[in-house]
Amino acid sequence: MVSVEEMFTFCKRKGFVYPSSEIYGGFAGFYDYGPLGVELKNNIKRLWWKYMVLDREDIVGIDGSIICHPKVWKASGHYDNFVDYVTKCKKCGKSYRADHLIEEKKGITTTNLKEMQDLIKDIKCPSCGGELGEIKEFNLMFKTYVGPVESKETEAYLRPETAQIIFLNFKNIINTTRVKLPFGIAQIGKVFRNEISPRNFLFRMREFEQMEVEFFAHPKKLNECKDYDEIKDLEVNALIAGEKEMKTAKISDLYPDHIKTKWHAFWIGYRYKWYLDLGLNPEKLRIRQHDKEELSHYSEDTWDIEYKYDFGWKELEGVADRTDFDLSKHMEASGEDLRYFNEETKERILPNVAAEPSVGVDRVFLTVLMDSYHEEEVKGEKRVVLKLNPKLAPYKVAVFPLVKKDGLAEKAKEVYSMLKKEFHTFYDESGSIGRRYRRMDEIGTPWCVTIDYDTLNDDTVTIRDRDSMEQVRVKISELKDWIRVRL
Ligand code: GAP
Repeated sequence: MVSVEEMFTFCKRKGFVYPSSEIYGGFAGFYDYGPLGVELKNNIKRLWWKYMVLDREDIVGIDGSIICHPKVWKASGHYDNFVDYVTKCKKCGKSYRADHLIEEKKGITTTNLKEMQDLIKDIKCPSCGGELGEIKEFNLMFKTYVGPVESKETEAYLRPETAQIIFLNFKNIINTTRVKLPFGIAQIGKVFRNEISPRNFLFRMREFEQMEVEFFAHPKKLNECKDYDEIKDLEVNALIAGEKEMKTAKISDLYPDHIKTKWHAFWIGYRYKWYLDLGLNPEKLRIRQHDKEELSHYSEDTWDIEYKYDFGWKELEGVADRTDFDLSKHMEASGEDLRYFNEETKERILPNVAAEPSVGVDRVFLTVLMDSYHEEEVKGEKRVVLKLNPKLAPYKVAVFPLVKKDGLAEKAKEVYSMLKKEFHTFYDESGSIGRRYRRMDEIGTPWCVTIDYDTLNDDTVTIRDRDSMEQVRVKISELKDWIRVRL
């Protein structure tokens, strides 16, 4: 298994991701995506949007602002509750996230302040061995000022989740579109969290992107889910709150005893299926139910979809039952009636967020790279290959002339020009053909097309498959179709 540190080195070397502000020594928790990274990231977002919005009839999208009225965060509870626990070394001044330190040093998972205070007493600063100070709450929202004056009145926050902007637009959506309950609103966008100790590369960042849906349903119809049959037989690895052992179960084995509502069960299964469709190793995926004390201030029940990284099973995505918490808080704070009006029954309804599937683009990015990275030995040499789902691959195809002379390069460029109109295509004529294959394997390009002397006679090319390394001969006129079908 590749480690997260190795993945960081790999990403930097190949141009997937660079540390932010590197010439100034870097800036912890911030990263820049390079030429390959931006392609992979865009592909992740495109696939998510297709699966969550375009393929469905009941979800519409928005793209909201990053900074909004500061009252939003007071009403949503983020101002008071969006905190982590920090302890500072009395000797060197370094800060640590207390719950992470306790988990690391003692193997105990807790966010109970009193319990943490006791547990941290005999832990020393990992950096200098100094004594650690009292544990304090630390709000993760980044503060800024709007306008030319810096004062209490002009304070605002960079959004720590995209969800609130969905709630703010709930009324606009029901007034301007033809959505009917149950329905969802989707958004992809940047969020900011002043994480105490950003770590594990893209896993915990200070600026990242989220893909979220708030799925609204009638509070009395949370078990009327027309799509449930689609996922009820899906097998998942599951760790239920309070249990020690993970087990394999169908979604229908978990609803209603453990996952309380049908819509919530549907969304957990539907999202799990997305990761299977992306090609993630099913043995490294599981769902885990939050313990009561772990739940966010707004959640009634949350199941994380977790991945087994080299640093343990960790949250990839959260699927929370968010109740009517947010809409009712905003209704109370703004004085606006945010209820949905049912024309047929003349009923005013405050919907529940039956499920909020929420995931970081960057976390999916890291996970698909770690999952697809393979090192193999081929003819006594190491081959690094990213066995990425072709839909995710930055380049879909590469075109090589066997040699540059005798008109092969010209022919190859013709093929390249034809392909690049439809697929992101790479052209390479430098180095041995073997080295060119290896370079493409390393960045996950699924197919390499080679133009050789036979091409000049019969207009056929060789296509070499990244994973099997097998080669087939295909007519140039059929090349686009050949790739299209496999994508
Ligand atoms: N609206 C719900 C919400 O924001 P969350 O569990 O705090 O819930 C959702 O975040 C997802 O965002 C996580 O499952 C993870 O994929 C991603 N995420 C959270 N914090 C992150 C961080 N510091 N860096 C990268 N991704 C993060």
